[in-house]
Amino acid sequence: MRSTAAIKSHPIHPMLVAFPIGLWVMAFIFNVLGAMQNNSGLWAAGFYCTIAGCVSAVLAALPGAIDWLTVVPPNSSAKNRGAIHGGLNSLALLLFIYIAYRQGGAANEPDNLTLLLMGLGVVLLGISGWLGGTLVYRNQIGVDHRYAGAGKLKERSLDNWNRPVCNQSELADGQMLLAKVDGERVVVGRCPEGLFAFSDHCTHRGGPLSDGALVDCTVQCPWHGSQFDIRTGRVVAGPAEEKIEIYAIETRGNEVYIKPKQPKVSAPKEPKKAA
Ligand code: FES
Repeated sequence: MRSTAAIKSHPIHPMLVAFPIGLWVMAFIFNVLGAMQNNSGLWAAGFYCTIAGCVSAVLAALPGAIDWLTVVPPNSSAKNRGAIHGGLNSLALLLFIYIAYRQGGAANEPDNLTLLLMGLGVVLLGISGWLGGTLVYRNQIGVDHRYAGAGKLKERSLDNWNRPVCNQSELADGQMLLAKVDGERVVVGRCPEGLFAFSDHCTHRGGPLSDGALVDCTVQCPWHGSQFDIRTGRVVAGPAEEKIEIYAIETRGNEVYIKPKQPKVSAPKEPKKAA
């Protein structure tokens, strides 16, 4: 999904994370070398790297949090992974703030516990970076997909279900539009049989179907490849086992409307027969 904290569709978070990672790793290296060589210049450099790393970590966290809140699909494995990623990064930030506090200044030699905590902070960064890599390279968070003819995924927020979602001619064959309405994420896609609306939520692990590929009337999830028929919601190929939700659409004039799902009415219970 395209990042919302981006410059010309280049996500800002990955641009900034290089700074805290590089600065904190260098702080650790400077301090270890400074302690081994009893070199005050090295441990001063380590102290300044620690401080600069903390400042840049806060700056990097802001666009990351925006993307987690606005781009990562709700109720998905990536949402949980992003929360762990952010939690580990916050822990690393608190740890390096404490490390700077313990060292107390550029003129002070870091003690063994400080070096140990720095090593722990670097390990935390490694684990968190691994999760960040999974979010980008597998979950494709921040990736700006294009369609044939250089078309883009369209996104639209609607105040309510009575607002039109698009014009009849707005989508090319195979193109999708993600509509956010009343807390639900509904995709409108055009296939050779016309326009159809379906839930963005893949029933496997919550992948965003609007970010996948629509070929004929089958949409493929970008995360693990499950395929669904957008006319019926039926699973065409797993690993998903449950069908996706389908929405009815209505055309008035040239405008297309999505109809909200009807609440499920449970069948009335049959009265018990007298013994
Ligand atoms: S989330 Fe796994 S196939 Fe969609």
